[in-house]
Amino acid sequence: MRTHYCGELNSNFLAEEVELTGWVHKRRDHGGVIFLDIRDRTGIAQVVYDPDTEDSFAVADTVRNEFVLRARGRVRARPEGTINPDMKTGEVEVLGSTLEILNASATPPFQLDEYSSAGEDVRLRYRYVDLRRPEMQERLRLRSTVTSHVRRFLESEGYWEIETPTLTSATPEGARDYLVPSRTHAGEFFALPQSPQLFKQLLMMSAMDKYYQIARCYRDEDLRHDRQPEFTQIDIEASFIDEAEMMRMTEEMLTGLFSEVLGVNLGTFPIITHAEAMRRFGSDRPDLRNPLELIDVDDLMLEVEFKVFNGPANDPHGRVVALRVPQANEILSRKQIDDYADFVSQYRAKGLAYIKINDASGGINGVQSPILKFLPEDVILSLLERVGAETGDIVFFGADRVRVVNESMGALRNRLAADLDLLSDGYRPCWVVDWPMFQETHDGALVPEHHPFTQPTCDLGEFQSNPGAARARAYDVVMNGYELGGGSIRIHDKATQIAVFEALGIGQEGVDKFRFLLEALQFGCPPHGGIAMGLDRLIMLMSGTESIRDVIAFPKTQTASCLLMSAPSSVDELQLRELGIRIRGE
Ligand code: AMO
Ligand code: AMP
Repeated sequence: MRTHYCGELNSNFLAEEVELTGWVHKRRDHGGVIFLDIRDRTGIAQVVYDPDTEDSFAVADTVRNEFVLRARGRVRARPEGTINPDMKTGEVEVLGSTLEILNASATPPFQLDEYSSAGEDVRLRYRYVDLRRPEMQERLRLRSTVTSHVRRFLESEGYWEIETPTLTSATPEGARDYLVPSRTHAGEFFALPQSPQLFKQLLMMSAMDKYYQIARCYRDEDLRHDRQPEFTQIDIEASFIDEAEMMRMTEEMLTGLFSEVLGVNLGTFPIITHAEAMRRFGSDRPDLRNPLELIDVDDLMLEVEFKVFNGPANDPHGRVVALRVPQANEILSRKQIDDYADFVSQYRAKGLAYIKINDASGGINGVQSPILKFLPEDVILSLLERVGAETGDIVFFGADRVRVVNESMGALRNRLAADLDLLSDGYRPCWVVDWPMFQETHDGALVPEHHPFTQPTCDLGEFQSNPGAARARAYDVVMNGYELGGGSIRIHDKATQIAVFEALGIGQEGVDKFRFLLEALQFGCPPHGGIAMGLDRLIMLMSGTESIRDVIAFPKTQTASCLLMSAPSSVDELQLRELGIRIRGE
């Protein structure tokens, strides 16, 4: 139907007869001459109709935005003064000879150029219009480029792409399951996989050696800007490998990808232990673009009378940290500081003490703070020295249980960097290693940091004597404050697997639910491990957008619905009866 894509046209094609297809981006009537900007996925070309070509001119007069056209004409240079350097095709235009309307369009729900005023609900409801925007097309193209690069790389490393079922039983990754009722087994349900975790382990037991899959995963969890209920993983597993090999391979894949697709050199990824990440950044997914760091000051506060500080300083589960913000004194108003105190209270912090450094050489007289009266002079001076305080800085403090301090001060660190524009440019990946096996919940129960199939670093006896203290053979790849991927070496013997279920307080339940796994572990399971990366998050980072919805063709809303298809939706009574389901009217 066409000879060229719109975006291809340039002065190489002067005097050529071309045929273009696409959508009317804009139509301008310049007193007797009609300009049509015709758009396809490659760009926009300007086609001009003048009244000499009477029939086509009449057609051009009737078209409106988003009509679908086929236009024929001859490429010519734009007249002096009308060249548009911002447009790929801006040096040329097509003098139209014929024009055919392939389809009309109702008035679009929003103008593509003015999408931001449309509201996301409207954009999601009319997603097929929203996706016509060049940025959206570019992001989906990037996604396709990335998956094809990943496939090529993994194939070259000897990985086989193998599909695993999506109608399955629960695969625990810490979220709720999406359930699918079975008609043939009334009263029973499939679960959609939270990840292919167990299948990929079973594939290792099947001697497939190296597996990957661009896999769809389903998790019913609270949604955020970087989470979708349905998302895609680059899922990888290999046998007879260790952490170092899996990390090397992943790192090579990512560096190759960024270099080939974005021309960005990621360099070697620093390796940070989980403990160090929590200590310096208050987070297990630190944004290394952020120069601010938490500094421990517990030891200085052991003897002070100020209870807010000495309590946590003397508590083995407590922590007191300082966060020095260079040159913030001039910038942050009293009100902003109060806002930050409100902000940290969302993370259960009980306050946000701070010291302003008016003159770093003035000793105690050079500082100003509501807590000065609570702290002896020598402590304040040691504090200033510890954090390297300089004139113009503000030093914030967090004191509480370790988790509260890490969460609140880690979040404040991010917030300050965003507000004060402190983030460096580019991409700062790192590995976070040496994870604890478990996290303790408020009521003392253990939950896995990764998933229950992760191998502890210690032997079985040691694990059983104190599971809460066990470390995991796990590694996460983090970039710019996002957890991009997580993986581990897996348990490959039955006794350890049962011990982990027991530590989680699901001994018998685990044995019953994962009988197939425990059984498979007995028939020659190789040592194995793997990783999964969030493809959507990767594309989000690579395309520089802040919302995961911008990189998914048909995403769900914050409340996990699809506005375009009106899903989820109710089903008719007959269907429910077949499934043996009655809706409880509560
Ligand atoms: P994990 O649960 O860490 O590990 O998931 C791996 C990666 O998937 C991405 N991700 C998400 N992306 C968008 N929306 C979500 N709701 C969402 N949840 C997770 C993240 C995350 O790092 N089976 C293990 C992997 C393994 O051990 O090999 C797993 O699923 O980028
Ligand atoms: P208070 O004695 O509670 O009035 O607190 C005195 C100062 O310490 C105020 O500036 C509070 O914001 C701050 N503060 C109180 N609790 C904490 C805490 N847990 N961590 C850091 N600062 C705190």
